[in-house]
Amino acid sequence: MPVGILGTGKYAPERRLTNQDLERIVDTNDEWIVSRTGIRERRIAAEHEATSDLAYEASVRALAAAGITADQLDLIIVATITPDMFFPSTACILQDRLGAKKAAAFDLSAACSGFIYGLANASGFIALGAYKYALVIGADTLSRITDYTDRNTCVLFGDGAGAVVIGQVPEGRGFRSFELGADGSGGEHLRLPGGGSRMPSSERSIAERQHFMQMNGREVFKFAARIMGNAADEALRKAGVAKEEIDLLIPHQANIRIIQASLERLDLPQEKCVINVDKYGNMSAASIPLALAEAVEDGRVKEGDRIVLVGFGGGLTWGASVLVW
Ligand code: ACO
Repeated sequence: MPVGILGTGKYAPERRLTNQDLERIVDTNDEWIVSRTGIRERRIAAEHEATSDLAYEASVRALAAAGITADQLDLIIVATITPDMFFPSTACILQDRLGAKKAAAFDLSAACSGFIYGLANASGFIALGAYKYALVIGADTLSRITDYTDRNTCVLFGDGAGAVVIGQVPEGRGFRSFELGADGSGGEHLRLPGGGSRMPSSERSIAERQHFMQMNGREVFKFAARIMGNAADEALRKAGVAKEEIDLLIPHQANIRIIQASLERLDLPQEKCVINVDKYGNMSAASIPLALAEAVEDGRVKEGDRIVLVGFGGGLTWGASVLVW
């Protein structure tokens, strides 16, 4: 039996950080942010909320949509670059909170591509017959690692979570292909250097703001504009699906210009693409699953639709998948 998505769920914190709010924090303006990125506002986690809390809310909804209970789960994968802490993993914290007693659990670090990496992992376990149900979550609280004195980055990021339950689906549906990749030589363009074994936290690392994301926006932009099309093309080729057959594209929501470049490359009209970057900004691993869950809620996804998921991120990494809903 093929493997596919049985239910989706999303969660975004209530607090909104608008471009007008940012105008009061750094030297920027709404016109610059909208024209360069397409972003108008992002969600920011409350002080008491950490990544596992966002993941929990999305997971409860995905389980309900799939019609299964947490104790039926065999596996939990949380894709994140902002875990609650180094260890225990956010997946283990979530496993306990959900009461998913028999589930194995681990975190996966592939930045914004993490959710697609997670889907590929989980569907592999299910296709092998090792597991029946897996919960895959993309969740990030980027506001905690965003430098709100750096206008180059702080306008881009927000917090959120998206979750899916995956398992066996009827013939003709499910995942058709995965295309994953990495280019570690570009890692320096997008990173958070402080706090790991290379640069443990110290007064100096804190003073130098090494515990915040650092980004070479132009390099990441060039990489993203190229790799989104390449990854999607490769996933389509592996699936034996032609560009004209795509019903819905769900790209990583980093920047409207990068999304438009992907649409041009795939020759797709904008109405075949889910775009919510204006409302949430870039939520790293959460962007794709939250956009998918939103599209499902809005009735934009119909049985038999051919869907392409595609993303890129720190690492540098990329991932794409073709599935039939
Ligand atoms: N407000 C006003 N001006 C700004 C701002 C701001 N918020 N940020 C930068 N500028 C200025 C710059 O200082 C620069 O001024 P200068 O020419 O005097 O030096 C000018 O605007 C133009 O800067 P560019 O970097 O050329 O602007 P660009 O059009 O490339 O847009 C952006 C910048 C939006 C960051 C773009 O490069 C981008 O989207 N890159 C990809 C980023 C991305 O997707 N990162 C996430 C990866 S996913 C992950 O793993 C988390």
